[in-house]
Amino acid sequence: MTYPADLARELTSLESEARSHLERLMSTWPLLSDLSFSDLILHVPVDNLSLTSNESVGSGGNRDAFARRSHPGDELHFVVLGQIRPATSQTFFEHDLIGQIYAAGELPLVRESWEKGIIVFGELDEGREEPTRYQCIPVRWNNEVIAVLSRAWSPLIGRKTGGLERTYLTLFARFAQMIADGVFPFVTDDDTFEDAPRVGDGVIVLDHLKHIIFASPNAVNALHRMGIMSSVTGSTLTELGLRVEAIDVAYTKHLPVIEEFERRPDVIAILRCIPLIEDANVVGAVLLIRDVTDLRRRDRLLLSKDAAIREVHHRVKNNLQTISSLLRLQSRRLNDNAAKQALSEAERRIAAIALVHEILAREPGDQVPFGEIMPALIRLARDGEFHGREVTIECEGSLGEVPAEVATPLAVVIAELTQNAVEHAFAEPFTGLPHVKINLAIDAIRNGFVVEVIDNGMGFPDDFDIEKTKSLGLSIARDLVCSQLSGELSIGGRKDGINGASVVIVIPRSS
Ligand SMILES: Nc1ncnc2c1ncn2[C@@H]1O[C@H](COP(=O)(O)OP(=O)(O)OP(=O)(O)O)[C@@H](O)[C@H]1O
Ligand SMILES: [Mg+2]
Repeated sequence: MTYPADLARELTSLESEARSHLERLMSTWPLLSDLSFSDLILHVPVDNLSLTSNESVGSGGNRDAFARRSHPGDELHFVVLGQIRPATSQTFFEHDLIGQIYAAGELPLVRESWEKGIIVFGELDEGREEPTRYQCIPVRWNNEVIAVLSRAWSPLIGRKTGGLERTYLTLFARFAQMIADGVFPFVTDDDTFEDAPRVGDGVIVLDHLKHIIFASPNAVNALHRMGIMSSVTGSTLTELGLRVEAIDVAYTKHLPVIEEFERRPDVIAILRCIPLIEDANVVGAVLLIRDVTDLRRRDRLLLSKDAAIREVHHRVKNNLQTISSLLRLQSRRLNDNAAKQALSEAERRIAAIALVHEILAREPGDQVPFGEIMPALIRLARDGEFHGREVTIECEGSLGEVPAEVATPLAVVIAELTQNAVEHAFAEPFTGLPHVKINLAIDAIRNGFVVEVIDNGMGFPDDFDIEKTKSLGLSIARDLVCSQLSGELSIGGRKDGINGASVVIVIPRSS
């Protein structure tokens, strides 16, 4: 794929500011193409022809004017930097012309416009059946012609000429003159604005006193929706009760201004005001107006849906915390130690799930930044009962964003494994108060997540078999990893020459 910016840098001698001027032209030219009902093509002289490969010179193999073979040599050549088709009419060039290089002799009108620095009109003689009109506009920047913008159309294809067509073509002629004068595109034209209005959305033309001299049918519809029913021509928008600051700013600053405004609570529109400049004076303006009420309503609905989902997560978290405290209260009333411990473990498991919902309640979307859960999970394991042993838990690596459906079980599993290390690394018959060191190594790999929990303790008992264990903690972990997340859980340690126990889990991303 060929990008205009690369072509301009590699094939032309344009300075970076001149290149920016052309880029701005190409970011605003849907307006020009729509107003002129024509294909527009931007031509720039090639500086270093030897750099161009033979394929690109006169390549394309199509039936368009640019497809003819060129004659490399000292002769002036142009490269097509950009091409746009109108949304208001049929296209004239079916092929992609960007990057094509041709000798100036093949398009004498482009050459004439370039050499004389004037707008020229003529016929495109390339054996087409229908007559083809051609207009070439010199693009001036800093008092120099840096490119030629050509417009091709056939009077036989496209739309019949009516009032709207005539107005648009007159507007195009004004913009063409502004391009040739070096005052269009404007320096701020690279500011992109989402949902910016286009010609098809609605056009209003103002005179130098901001009076409306033309409003396209779509613009009239938009004004109707805003409650403006009277005839609009001859009045200013302010007189019609529509106060839009963009217009005043555009007239005083000589720059295009875009504004989103709300008229009555239920109509939202975007208005772009482009001043028409002649001899450094604003002689009028083109307003493009787009009713974005439906679009904004949908945005708001999405936002409120997002907020509702977060609210649900928040409530789930609160409910889990309530369950956790109920279990704690209940365990205090028990005398049986085993029962007490069972309840406190249930409480801890629920707390791990609550952590994930707490993050989901804060973050939009269904991805959980797992890094925010890890510190709380570590705290949870450290704060548990461990008979006064010193515990250090270190975490290396990061999982990045984890899908919510993976994050909850994964948090429970990590809580379970770290808790085991705290509890069993130096369990009976070990005596004394050893320092428990736990290392959590986590990593997001291309197609999944890897978590490794290693401790410095005694390791798993020799006869331990994870498939046969009746204990709850590892069974839960294995079930969550293998069944729910379609992953793998393996234990290792002393047998593998590692001092202590190690548990590795691998979870595929698609789970
Ligand atoms: N890090 C570890 N170091 C040494 N032994 C371990 C380690 N983790 C687990 N074990 C052994 O594996 C057994 C099973 O662990 P599991 O978590 O399934 O049960 P538990 O911790 O005993 O009870 P629960 O987790 O249900 O409260 C433990 O009883 C212990 O003997
Ligand atoms: Mg356990």
